[in-house]
Amino acid sequence: MVIMLDCPNFSEGNLDAKGQTCESGIQALRHRIAVFNLSRSSDSTDERKRSMSISENFGNPKGLIGRLMLSGMNMGHTPMAKWGFAQFEVPEAAVVVDIGCGGGYNVKRLLERCPRGHVFGVDISEESVKKSRAVNKSEVGKRCDIVRASVEVLPFDDHVLDLATAFETVYFWPDIAENFKEVRRVLADSGHFVVINDPGNPNTHWEDKIPGMRAYTAEQVAETMEAAGFSDIQISSEKNMFCVNGTAK
Ligand SMILES: C[S@@+](CC[C@H](N)C(=O)[O-])C[C@H]1O[C@@H](n2cnc3c(N)ncnc32)[C@H](O)[C@@H]1O
Repeated sequence: MVIMLDCPNFSEGNLDAKGQTCESGIQALRHRIAVFNLSRSSDSTDERKRSMSISENFGNPKGLIGRLMLSGMNMGHTPMAKWGFAQFEVPEAAVVVDIGCGGGYNVKRLLERCPRGHVFGVDISEESVKKSRAVNKSEVGKRCDIVRASVEVLPFDDHVLDLATAFETVYFWPDIAENFKEVRRVLADSGHFVVINDPGNPNTHWEDKIPGMRAYTAEQVAETMEAAGFSDIQISSEKNMFCVNGTAK
């Protein structure tokens, strides 16, 4: 793999001999993303213009309602994100992906926490990608790249990332058993996968109100992580929020 040849310490936290994030490794990751973007097809115009209800926009924001909801989620998810970021470590030179990055505030928070690292944002929604790029414009193309992709096929080589985060998104993933294996594939050994959810009061039955949502419990997330190749799985929780942190073994 090109990354390994150019960047001998890539598997040890993506650092070069001076302890900086390895630039040639990041370039190789960018090349992979460029090829991925060329090969993927975009939404049809009909699909983009399709009017959707507010509840449909949680899982794949589109159009004007999607844009408004992304701004709303950036603000509304802030208390949960603050709690969530206190539950796990971000090494200062980490190479990170935030999957289902939505409006990009968590990409911004990750960039602040790894000042010598690199943060990729991935989202299936074109509107999320645009919003995340705008929110992080001072770092995009430098220490940050935002790419449109599904968790089903992540645009990275095997074992190249140190940390994958997923805030308020696994509810909408098509098959978490398979999707967690895909996350494991791109993480280096000893890398971390962190899932943070606030499924709300179970009596509200959000699954019945939001199309395509599955409100997994922390235990279900942890069991799925274990089956996908993660160990030393830690669960923390407060009120209805939970964080599940697994180590790639
Ligand atoms: C409820 S929003 C959360 C956004 C952000 N993480 C936050 O905490 O504000 C869920 C996001 O997951 C994205 N998403 C849903 N399915 C996805 C998939 N298969 N792959 C990548 N992203 C996905 C949606 O497009 C949306 O932006």
